[in-house]
Amino acid sequence: MPVTVVTGSASGIGAAVCKVLNAAGHRVIGIDRGAADTNVDIVADLSTPAGRQSAVDAVIERCSGVLDGLVCCAGVGVTAPSAGLILAVNYFGVTALVDGLSEALAKGKRPAALIIGSVASTQPGADSQPMVAAMLAGNEADARAQADVLGAPHVAYASSKYAVTRYARQKAVVWGARGMRLNVVAPGAVETPLHQASKEDPRFGEAVKKFVAPLGRAGQPDEIAAMVAFLQSDQAAFIHGSVMFVDGGMDAMVRPDRF
Ligand code: NAI
Repeated sequence: MPVTVVTGSASGIGAAVCKVLNAAGHRVIGIDRGAADTNVDIVADLSTPAGRQSAVDAVIERCSGVLDGLVCCAGVGVTAPSAGLILAVNYFGVTALVDGLSEALAKGKRPAALIIGSVASTQPGADSQPMVAAMLAGNEADARAQADVLGAPHVAYASSKYAVTRYARQKAVVWGARGMRLNVVAPGAVETPLHQASKEDPRFGEAVKKFVAPLGRAGQPDEIAAMVAFLQSDQAAFIHGSVMFVDGGMDAMVRPDRF
C-alpha cells in the first residue's frame, strides 16, 4: 500500500485528493491547520518554519522514514490576511515539505510528488517580479517584505505560483536521476472555499467572476483530483517535470501561442 502525504487535506482540492487516493488504495497522511477538520492526521501551520519542520518530523515518524508520495495542495488565495502570507504558504510551505521529505521519498517505491500550482502562474508580469528571485533564493524574509510593501495580493499569488512551478521544474531535473518524479497540476477556477472567498472579495470579486474558461464553468475539486491520482499512479511513470493545466481551456484562451 503506497503511503502518500497530502497537505491542505481538510478542504477543497486537498480533500478531493484524499478521497481519490484512499479509493486507489493509498494510506494517506493528511496535513492541515485544524485538528477538528476531516482528513487531518497532522496539525501544522505551513506558513512558519517551525510549523513546516514539525510537519516534516511528524510525517517521518508516521511513515518510518519511507514515503511513496507527496501531494502539496495547501494554499491561500488573494483574500489572505497579507500578501506576504501568500508567499509563506504557497511557496515556502510547499518547498520546505518537498525538500524536507525528499530523502524519505528517495526510499519509497516508485516515488512521486506533485505540487498544485495555478493557471495564475502564467499571468503577465508574474515572472518578472523581484519577489520571484527572492523566493527561488530561499530568502523568505526578503520575499515576504517585498510582497507586503507592494501590497497587491493578486500579484503575490501569481508570483508565488510562478515561483513554485519554476522550483518544481528545476527540482525535476535533479530528481530524475534518482528515479523520483515531480509534477505540477495548474488548475483554473475550481469551486472551493478559496474560490468562493475570491468571488466575494470587494477588490477582486468582479474580475474573478468575469474570468470564465472556454468550457463556460468552473471546475470541481474531483476533476483536479482525478488528474492528481493519475499522475501519482504508475500509469504516469514517464510523466516528470510537467505542468498539467486542468482549467477548462483558460490557458489556451489567454496564451494561445505558448505551450
Ligand atoms: P481551500 O481553501 O478549499 O483549501 C486549502 C487548504 O489549505 C485548507 O484546508 C487550508 O486550511 C489549508 N491551508 C491554508 N493555509 C495553511 C497553512 N498555513 N498551514 C496548513 N494548511 C493550510 O482551497 P483550494 O481551492 O482547495 O486550494 C488548494 C490549492 O489549489 C491551493 O494551492 C490553491 O492555490 C490552488 N488553486 C485553487 C484554485 C481554485 O480556483 N480553487 C485555482 C488554482 C489553484
